[in-house]
Amino acid sequence: MPRSLDIAVTPNPRPVPDDRLAEILAAPGFGQHFTDHMLTVEWTPDAGWHDARITPYGPIQLDPATAVLHYAQETFEGLKAYRHEDGSVWTFRPEANAERMIRSSQRLALPELPVEDFVAAVDALIEIDERWVPDPTGEKSLYVRPFMFASEKFLGVRPSQHVTFMVITSPAGVYFSKGVKPVSIWLTEDYTRAGRGGMGAAKTGGNYASSLVAQQEATAHGCDQVVFLDAQEGKYVEELGGMNMYFVHADGRIVTPEIGTILEGITRASIIELAGKLDHQVEERRFSIDEWRDGVASGAITEVFACGTAAVVTPVGTLRWDGGEVSTGEDFVGPVTQELRRQLVDIQYGRSEDTFGWMHRV
Ligand code: PLP
Ligand code: COI
Repeated sequence: MPRSLDIAVTPNPRPVPDDRLAEILAAPGFGQHFTDHMLTVEWTPDAGWHDARITPYGPIQLDPATAVLHYAQETFEGLKAYRHEDGSVWTFRPEANAERMIRSSQRLALPELPVEDFVAAVDALIEIDERWVPDPTGEKSLYVRPFMFASEKFLGVRPSQHVTFMVITSPAGVYFSKGVKPVSIWLTEDYTRAGRGGMGAAKTGGNYASSLVAQQEATAHGCDQVVFLDAQEGKYVEELGGMNMYFVHADGRIVTPEIGTILEGITRASIIELAGKLDHQVEERRFSIDEWRDGVASGAITEVFACGTAAVVTPVGTLRWDGGEVSTGEDFVGPVTQELRRQLVDIQYGRSEDTFGWMHRV
């Protein structure tokens, strides 16, 4: 594959031993173990992107005045590499992540990393740490985390004049410890995630920082995840802390909140295409919390699910709020959820034909 980035490689002299690696890959969890290498590229206004390098994975040194530590000027991405039966390794729609990182960077006044450089960087790191890509049993994969941050040492509030892009990778099993079981959702009425003109559509750390106290509220109410409503009217469903949402109706229609203040999920866009192919009418529109409550209570909504790279497709069982709850069943995984999930993961693991051209061979 052509590389526009000239990447210098310093191999790790002490890679994780094979027997320890086998232990990690047997039960990787999520985001706990990191591979032998990491990739770094620097940016300055004069030199542009430069000094691309792969080095042994390890701590980085930052001056206490580094801008990102104070003003959170950063963006990140999340995608996965999958091992197919024949041993080959593939990523899912990496160009879409690259394009989204450009949109996020525009919002955060960060420089744009060209799509081909993003893809080349991700490929190069996966290639050198290929032994870390788990076998496909149990839906394991290698989670890839590209991120970009304001690395200038300066306390003035303005776009950083030194930016660092990095990629790290981490073997991943299932995101939710209970596996593919319905999750329960807490409806927060105290907190919102994004407002008009805000940065809800960007993948940037601040959105996740602001979601944590709401997630604590969810946990305190016995729920797995929190759902955010729109900031203006407090009426329309936006998304979960790290997933987009779908509502399957008894007549086969599927409704998903429209883009604007939510993250434009790559899984979300893929599910819309898959559902269309399965003859579901998909509506991207504002969807009120009352429509959710009433729809489940009346049986007009038969299945609710959430999706994202880390969580794939996850069924949603119960919606709980201060004073009540509705549920499609605590153990029920609906047929539409199951079918869409199966079709998506079969493409990702190379078990069915990739008619959309989504997979990228590393
Ligand atoms: N919404 C939020 C807030 C997320 O963090 C994510 C995860 O990346 C998603 C939605 C789903 O996006 P994607 O399908 O691109 O992973
Ligand atoms: C992802 O699905 O890639 C996410 O970023 C969700 C979460 C781990 C932040």
